[in-house]
Amino acid sequence: MSEQYILVTGGAGYIGSHTVIELIQNGYKVVIVDNLINSSFDAVSRIEFIVGEKVPFFNVDLKDEKSLTKVFETYSIKSVIHFAALKAVGESTKIPLDYYDNNVNGTITLLKVMNNVNVKTIVFSSSATVYGDATRFENMIPIPEHCPNDPTNPYGKTKYVIEQIIHDLYNSDPEWRAAILRYFNPIGAHPSGLIGEDPLGIPNNLLPYLAQVAIGRREKLSIFGNDYNSHDGTPIRDYIHVVDLAKGHIASLSYLNNLESNKGLFREWNLGTGKGSTVFDVYHAFSKAVGRDLPYEVVGRRAGDVLDLTANPTRANTELEWFAEKSIEDACKDLWRWTTKNPFGFQLDNYKWTIFGEIEGNRLHTVDLDGFKVSITNYGATIQNIELNGDKLVLGFDNLESYQSSSNPFFGATVGRYANRIGNGGFTIDGKSFKTEINESENKTLHGGSQGFDKKQWLGPIVLKEDDNSVSLSFKYIDPNGSNGFPSDLETIVKYIVSPKNTLTIDFESQIVGNNGDVTALNLTNHSYFTLGDDVIDEYQVELSTPKYLALDSNQLPTGETKKLDSTSFKFGSQQFDDDFIINEANELLDTRSQDLKTLVNISSSSHSIKVSSTEPAFQLYTGDGIFVGEFKSRAGFAVEPSRPVNAINSSNAKQVILRKGETYGSKIQYEFA
Ligand code: NAD
Ligand code: UD1
Repeated sequence: MSEQYILVTGGAGYIGSHTVIELIQNGYKVVIVDNLINSSFDAVSRIEFIVGEKVPFFNVDLKDEKSLTKVFETYSIKSVIHFAALKAVGESTKIPLDYYDNNVNGTITLLKVMNNVNVKTIVFSSSATVYGDATRFENMIPIPEHCPNDPTNPYGKTKYVIEQIIHDLYNSDPEWRAAILRYFNPIGAHPSGLIGEDPLGIPNNLLPYLAQVAIGRREKLSIFGNDYNSHDGTPIRDYIHVVDLAKGHIASLSYLNNLESNKGLFREWNLGTGKGSTVFDVYHAFSKAVGRDLPYEVVGRRAGDVLDLTANPTRANTELEWFAEKSIEDACKDLWRWTTKNPFGFQLDNYKWTIFGEIEGNRLHTVDLDGFKVSITNYGATIQNIELNGDKLVLGFDNLESYQSSSNPFFGATVGRYANRIGNGGFTIDGKSFKTEINESENKTLHGGSQGFDKKQWLGPIVLKEDDNSVSLSFKYIDPNGSNGFPSDLETIVKYIVSPKNTLTIDFESQIVGNNGDVTALNLTNHSYFTLGDDVIDEYQVELSTPKYLALDSNQLPTGETKKLDSTSFKFGSQQFDDDFIINEANELLDTRSQDLKTLVNISSSSHSIKVSSTEPAFQLYTGDGIFVGEFKSRAGFAVEPSRPVNAINSSNAKQVILRKGETYGSKIQYEFA
């Protein structure tokens, strides 16, 4: 592999995840190694969602030399940013051997493997904790890098020892390049609100604790002493936004990379703002972000706390040309956004995932709201199962291979880039012709071609609890320019909202991204086949909201005429439908989500019913006559596919399916079960 990667150890953790995002957004390729001892894979899938690409991930313990070596053999790694460590000060005093073993031995193994494969550039996460109590000297506040070290707890000592080990390694082999970054107090979260700190148990640090008070998980903040010699009596710290901190890693990495060839380096840099804030300063800033004064009580001093730990960041400012830019107010706003979106961090009741199939990283995500259960997989952002009180209401396979097979009749899939049929082998926009892949007779492209959205691995999901106790799962896929013949890079987000009212809502949104084109044809839907408890659909009662459907020629393309059913209320019986019903002939909207959801059809059996609504101008009704796959027979289920009319791109009303750069395509579908 020619492309060079940065290995990030501990990349699923708090600071690591923010740094991975900054690295990728600055053009670096990243591999993550993390044993998830203090983090969750959800952080990795959220990173991927934010940056819009897969990030290779290895669940490996740093102490496992063999597995770590394999990572270096699999990817061409140029340098390492080393975050992985245990970091709780209090815990380290109780289980010091675990801390030395994990942090020191883990680092020794990493350095040995790096040496073996001749990777000799490392950025190491150290801490201001190595200085110990800098107030023991005169004139050492703000703290410069030459302040003597004297860590006061096992955690801090592991950092100190590791610094020494790396220094000794550099002394033995001056080709090594090591940046020792001593962080002051990292706070805040990613401005997207999707990534942040997720402390397990009772938080020790000030802002994570305050955040839990604000969200109602803790009663009040204990302020550890107001009898210090500061403007309000509480201790002073140098709080730095985690995104600024992440950027410090990029600055130090590029500093190391820009050294003259054959030149090594071992150098320490403080990463801090240089500005001290008291506990009350932080308390007020966070209360302001939340919009109310949070409950607190002043209690006695905490053992080991000192008056003032403020950085002198001059060395990083001048040598790395790095400055902290964000304020504690910015950090408090971002932390509050993260907290309100994720009150329990990455943990969510009612949601779990499992590995699904052999594709790396493919998972099956299940939300269970008191008997209403929905499972969706990354492959095709596909609905694999919908269950109401134990009864399955949608057709789905129990293995990934069946979804990958060409005989899969689009079970549950997200269909794109162009749902339904395109005639004429393609389309013309602004006088420019595009040929799309022919995968049906007579020059037709069905459902976007053989490798459409249904055959792609979607990123994410971002799983969030919504205000009404619904759970949403958002998946993202960036379809490259030229895919199945469609022009432009296209980013699509499909958001599923599972609600306790037994409804599943799907929100589609697409935009053109990148610089590889500025227009595309687009039509999206979901292709679930519903079953209401019977082996075949014949006894199901149908109530359509419109009798109007498009007349088709022998080629299944619209003639331009419309027809009407005699009745909108009937049993399927033996009738076959593969027809496009029209709700709004005059639609010109590209984003229909401004419209109210409109009922399209109610279908019921003796045991269950489904109501399908959408904002879309048409829907395909298909009686599943062509299903012959695995255990599923013809007419085992029916599909209702709300979308734009079939072949609209080659019609006089193509406006609704032409997306241009800067515009947004959108639509909404809702299934309500009983
Ligand atoms: P974190 O716990 O969120 O992240 C550390 C990550 O390392 C976790 O994802 C954990 O699962 C992983 N990890 C731990 N041991 C591992 C092992 N043996 N093998 C593989 N993975 C392992 O912590 P963080 O706050 O992001 O801290 C990152 C680094 O920064 C740590 O080295 C920490 O000591 C240092 N640091 C943190 C702070 C702070 O306040 N957060 C301050 C100064 C220094
Ligand atoms: C702690 C760690 C340090 C680590 C740093 C950043 C200790 C002794 N040191 O530093 O190694 O680098 O976190 O993660 O644990 N406070 C309260 N009430 C609370 C919590 C904190 O009043 O519930 C006060 C503390 O007294 C302190 C300030 O808030 O003055 C910040 O505390 P904290 O977030 O724990 O960080 P540090 O103690 O600076």
